[in-house]
Amino acid sequence: MKERLIIFDTTLRDGEQSPGASMNRDEKLRIAKALEKMRVDVIEAGFPIASPGDFDAVQSVAAAVKESTVCGLARALDKDIDVAADALKKAKSARIHTFIATSPIHMEKKLRMTPEQVLEQAVRAVKRARQYSDDVEFSPEDAGRSNSDFLCRVLEAVIDAGAKTVNIPDTVGYSFPHHFGALIKELIERVPNADKAIFSVHCHNDLGLAVGNSLSAVLNGARQVECTINGLGERAGNAALEEVVMAVRTRQDIFPCDVGLDATQIVKCSRLVSNITGFPVQPNKAIVGANAFAHESGIHQDGVLKSRETYEIMRAEDVGWRANRMVLGKHSGRNAFRTRLKELNVEFEREEDLNAAFVRFKELADKKHEIYDEDLQALVTDTTHNAANDRIKLLSLKVSCGTDVTPHAAVSLALDGQEKHITANGSGPVDATFKGIEGIINSGCVLQLYSVNAITTGTDSQGEVTVRVDKDGRIVNGQGADTDIVIASAKAYINALNKVLDPVVRAHPQV
Ligand code: KIV
Ligand code: ZN
Repeated sequence: MKERLIIFDTTLRDGEQSPGASMNRDEKLRIAKALEKMRVDVIEAGFPIASPGDFDAVQSVAAAVKESTVCGLARALDKDIDVAADALKKAKSARIHTFIATSPIHMEKKLRMTPEQVLEQAVRAVKRARQYSDDVEFSPEDAGRSNSDFLCRVLEAVIDAGAKTVNIPDTVGYSFPHHFGALIKELIERVPNADKAIFSVHCHNDLGLAVGNSLSAVLNGARQVECTINGLGERAGNAALEEVVMAVRTRQDIFPCDVGLDATQIVKCSRLVSNITGFPVQPNKAIVGANAFAHESGIHQDGVLKSRETYEIMRAEDVGWRANRMVLGKHSGRNAFRTRLKELNVEFEREEDLNAAFVRFKELADKKHEIYDEDLQALVTDTTHNAANDRIKLLSLKVSCGTDVTPHAAVSLALDGQEKHITANGSGPVDATFKGIEGIINSGCVLQLYSVNAITTGTDSQGEVTVRVDKDGRIVNGQGADTDIVIASAKAYINALNKVLDPVVRAHPQV
């Protein structure tokens, strides 16, 4: 039997730190359930002290997830740890993850603390966390740029204080695989009580090396990797879970350990996260990109047809790729709809939410005869966006455009329950629509990104629109889906504006 490599997913915490990727409680719950189904070992559900919304999300994930350990992040401060423990109370298996920076630059410039003070605070934090849970993880933030003698002292002290996992973050993505692997080896060799804890790594992708650094660490003794679906995360992101998992699975000839994940859930999880956050997956992304298993050149196609191993090192179906499958149609009933959603890890807590989604499904089935899993995912996200507490609602939209016509939009919105109507011209139908919406809302947002993606194949496919807006430095994403891409665009823009109008004040763990 090989040793187990623990997969710690931080999509809901570090992933959410990507500008514009913030998720609400229900969205986090959907992702957590999908991660649990994939048999991820540890799910970092959030940073409970950050805001009441974050606390609520961690609490809900802790109550809902039974098969994975649920983790909450806390700075090495009493109040953070107490709040994290409170949020995790209902978890079947709970972990508190506490951290403090150990690099000279962070200690001096950010914390304004001496190394001795940092060491003392780290030990105190771990001891406090141990009063609530046996499962405590400690991270020396910015370990990649920390002094290894000091790291050894801190790690020895926190393991003595009760940390069961010590996580070595390359917080700023500065390390190189051979150095990072050597650092892990050195720490395991030099920390006298290293055998009492699992060594973990958490790598950022600023130089595109997050997965390489993580794998090098595993080859040098790390037995937990922290990663995110699609590599989502602060700045350039974290190590991509799907790449780490499939590298270890595919190269069992070189890895002394293996993962316990159900890899066939990977593509489904990737789609879900992309759909909820509005961060598209690039077509050439390893494992989960649309072209990851597509062979374009004739020579490759010929080779694969003769023997697939000529050009394929993994099987597409092993990570969950399969042909689009028609799952439901116009005549499907509520039960079939509910059952299929359950298979996609979507369960509604309130009956009225299921009803709203079912109404949207029927409307869609009238326009589009074949409904695929991807359509259902988009539909659910769309339904949850049009939440009762949204301040802006789209009532109607009529556009005219074509050759020799000035594109024109007539927009009707409800703003805080009050109906408003406007007409606007633009350089195209989407531009006219956005101008109309802005004419009513006057948000002052600057549109940074607008993208349309066909959810499935065929001209009757739903278009999924993502917009990114900047409001005084705060970046917000919005998504919308519809068989009419102008309506999808309006929904996406309104979704972003609803988020802007509902400012979430939250603390950032690393400042
Ligand atoms: O990148 C980092 O250092 C982190 C820590 C909180 C683990 O996210
Ligand atoms: Zn991080």
